Parts: sequence; C-alpha cells; structure tokens
Amino acid sequence: MKVSAVVLVLGAFQAAAAAMVQATAPRTPTVGYYNDKCNGSVEGIVRDTVKAALNADITKGAALVRLFFHDCFVRGCDGSVLLDPTYANPYPEKTSGANIGLRGFDVIDAIKANLESACPSTVSCADILAFAARDASRYLSNGGIDYAVPAGRLDGVVSSATDAENNLPGSTFDVAKLISNFAAKGFTPEELVILSGAHSIGRAHCSSFRDRLSAPSGEINPYFRDNVLAKDCGAGPAADPTVENNIRDQNATALGNLTSYVVPASGGASLDNSYYINNLNNLVLFHSDWAIVGSNATMRHVHEYADNGTLWNLDFADALVKLSKLAMPPGSTGEIRKTCRATNY
Ligand code: HEM
Ligand SMILES: *[C@@H]1O[C@H](CO)[C@@H](O)[C@H](O)[C@H]1NC(C)=O
Ligand SMILES: *[C@@H]1O[C@H](CO)[C@@H](O)[C@H](O)[C@H]1NC(C)=O
Ligand SMILES: *[C@@H]1O[C@H](CO)[C@@H](O)[C@H](O)[C@H]1NC(C)=O
Ligand SMILES: *[C@@H]1O[C@H](CO)[C@@H](O)[C@H](O)[C@H]1NC(C)=O
Ligand SMILES: *[C@@H]1O[C@H](CO)[C@@H](O)[C@H](O)[C@H]1NC(C)=O
Repeated sequence: MKVSAVVLVLGAFQAAAAAMVQATAPRTPTVGYYNDKCNGSVEGIVRDTVKAALNADITKGAALVRLFFHDCFVRGCDGSVLLDPTYANPYPEKTSGANIGLRGFDVIDAIKANLESACPSTVSCADILAFAARDASRYLSNGGIDYAVPAGRLDGVVSSATDAENNLPGSTFDVAKLISNFAAKGFTPEELVILSGAHSIGRAHCSSFRDRLSAPSGEINPYFRDNVLAKDCGAGPAADPTVENNIRDQNATALGNLTSYVVPASGGASLDNSYYINNLNNLVLFHSDWAIVGSNATMRHVHEYADNGTLWNLDFADALVKLSKLAMPPGSTGEIRKTCRATNY
C-alpha cells in the first residue's frame, strides 16, 4: 500500500471515530446535568416511564431500587450490571449468584428506548438507573423519599461475575462482615442500617434464606420460621419459590396471629421504616437482616429508625445520593451506550 493510501485510510478512520460517541474519562456527576442536552425533559421521561411500569406491576419498584444498589457496589454506578453475556464476555455481573433474582431490566430498556427517541446517544444507562431508583423510591414512599440526583455518569465497558461476587454483601453475612463490606465502599455502620431498610419492599428466593429455616428461635420468630417460611419454601430445595420480604406483603391467612405485628402501610407507602419494627420483632427474612440487631453499633440505629419513619425517609434519601456517587475504578473509560444491554463496540 502506498503511503498516501495509508494516510487516506487513517483519515477516514479518524473521521468515523469522531462521529461516533467516544469513550472518555468519567466526570463528577452534577444535578441538572441534562437540562440543556435533550429535546425532551430527560428526568420527566424517566419519571413517566417508571410510573407506567409501576402502574402495570408495582413490584418492579423494588426491582429498580435493588438494581441501582447492585450497579453501584460493583465498579461504581456505571451500568455494568445491565450488560448481557456475549461471546467475548460470557459471565458479566448479572450471571453471578450474588445477583440472584435481579429484575427490572425491561423497565430500563423501556426508559432507554424513550430517551433514544428524544435525544439519541445522550443519556447514559448509569444515569437512567440512578433516576429510576429515585423515582421508584418516591412512588413507593408516596413522596416521603425524594431527592435531586446528580447526573453525567458514563457507562462502563467492563462487567464480571467475579467482581459482583467479591463486592456484594451476602445474605448469610454476620454483622462484622456486613460492616466491613459497607466500609469498603465508604459507608458507616449507620448507613448500613439505613440502606438495609430497603428490605421493607420486594421479595426473595427461598435459597437466599434457607439457613433461616433452621435458625435458633432467638434469631427468628419460631412461628414465622416453621409455619410461614418453611411452608412457603416447602416444595424442597429443587424448587426455589419467592417470598415477600415484608410480613405486611405476605398472605394474612398464613401469618395467623402474627398479623398483629404487621405495620400498616401508612398512606399507601410501602417503602418505609417497617423493616426496623419487623426486625425488632424477629420477623425479617435474611440472616444479614437479623444480624444488624446483633451489635450495639448498629442496634441503636435500628431503634432510632423504628421510632421515627420521617427520619428514615430523609436519611435513606441521603444514603441513596451517597450511593449514586460511587465512581468507576481510577483509570476507567466510559461511553454513552446505545442500548443498555451491550457496550457500543
Ligand atoms: C445489607 C446487605 C444486603 C444483603 C445481604 C442483601 C441481600 C438481598 C437478597 C439475598 C435479596 C433477595 C434476592 C433473591 O433471592 O431474589 C435481596 C432483595 C432486595 N434487596 Fe437487598 N441486600 C442488602 C442490602 C440492600 C440494599 C442496600 C438495598 C437498596 C438500597 C437492597 C434492596 C433490595 C430490594 C429492593 C430487594 C427486593 C428485590 C426484588 O423484589 O426484586 N438490599 N437483598
Ligand atoms: C433535537 O431535535 C432536532 C430536530 O429534530 C435535532 O436536529 C437535534 O439533533 C435534536 N437534539 C438532540 C440533543 O437530540
Ligand atoms: C393464603 O393462605 C391460605 C392458608 O395457608 C391459603 O388457603 C390461601 O389460598 C392463600 N391465599 C393466597 C392468595 O395465596
Ligand atoms: C399465637 O398463637 C399461638 C397458638 O397458636 C400462641 O401460642 C401464641 O402465644 C400466639 N401469639 C400471639 C402474639 O398472639
Ligand atoms: C452492648 O452494650 C451493652 C452495655 O452497654 C453490653 O453489655 C453488651 O455486651 C454490648 N453488646 C455487644 C454485642 O457489643
Ligand atoms: C423524627 O425525625 C424528624 C426529622 O429529623 C424530626 O423532625 C422529628 O422531630 C422526629 N420526630 C420525633 C418524634 O422524634
């Protein structure tokens, strides 16, 4: 090939690359980032799409809150949890056992599709997750939890099941392991307690709390263990049904006289401080939930939030904002994905 032809090919390549969305270094998120960047209101489009999804299936709200947590705790809030397996990367984060039951990907796809029609290649999937978790929290708390979401994140290009395994907390963790897992991301024991309150909504597979079916009666209400959970999970380990996280959402007939412990959803708000009251009554699902009443450093906050739901709403909002600021590892590059399930190249 002649030198001039090489120059021509290189020139064409550079022009093509410049026309595409380039991978760049991440920036610090700011509130209102998309205000002048789209023909539609970015946050309005996310809000309306989340609302439509929750009106069709209210349980998707819990799914979106958990998706956001699982995104941010692994390589920062970079949308890495959304990437599907490919030939080149057969085991992305979502294939990890730590991500059992992760759902709500369809809602993220719907939001992304609506945003791509308003302003193509403009809004990152990482930002969509952050907005959607806020909107779901506000919806499920009947407006009690609300906050401004800093935006401008980029989507990562790395996603590995091993990273998910190594960074996400396990449901069998004791309190020391939970505290150190959260400390590794810059969160205090108090913030561990605050964020765990998200388990007032959603559901879990029996395999995620199988250990609790044989836990001592001091760690779990024995009626709840033997007559509710064991029956829900009865078909044996091969079948792995799901059970509601909050006794409020369980079949009242099966609960029997435990219904007297149910904390009613005040004003229809299901994402609330009932988790702490359930916890003090030994009526939570996971060992990790029960574990936070096992240390003085966390126990006093369980009492604090059981006593004051308004305080929890405010502190949960602050903790989600802090979660949203977890950044990609230093030196990472990012992009605005065209589809949330795949990197651009
Ligand atoms: C403290 C350590 C935590 C552990 C060990 C833990 C563990 C789990 C497990 C095992 C499940 C059930 C998954 C399944 O079996 O399908 C679950 C569900 C859930 N978790 Fe956590 N989690 C923790 C913290 C959090 C945090 C910080 C949040 C959000 C702020 C959160 C939000 C949720 C939600 C909303 C669900 C229900 C999801 C759904 O219905 O699809 N969790 N968690
Ligand atoms: C807004 O719409 C105009 C006209 O359809 C289009 O040329 C422009 O690229 C759009 N802007 C964004 C940010 O998508
Ligand atoms: C609730 O539990 C009772 C008794 O265990 C059962 O007969 C009933 O079918 C359940 N209802 C629902 C909606 O699952
Ligand atoms: C629930 O009923 C059982 C008997 O079925 C009884 O032993 C227990 O004390 C009751 N608990 C409450 C809170 O009423
Ligand atoms: C909690 O504090 C009390 C008294 O302040 C002490 O007796 C107890 O051992 C502590 N428990 C734990 C788990 O540290
Ligand atoms: C609950 O917390 C809120 C927010 O900090 C505070 O304004 C309120 O006074 C507290 N309520 C009680 C009963 O302590």
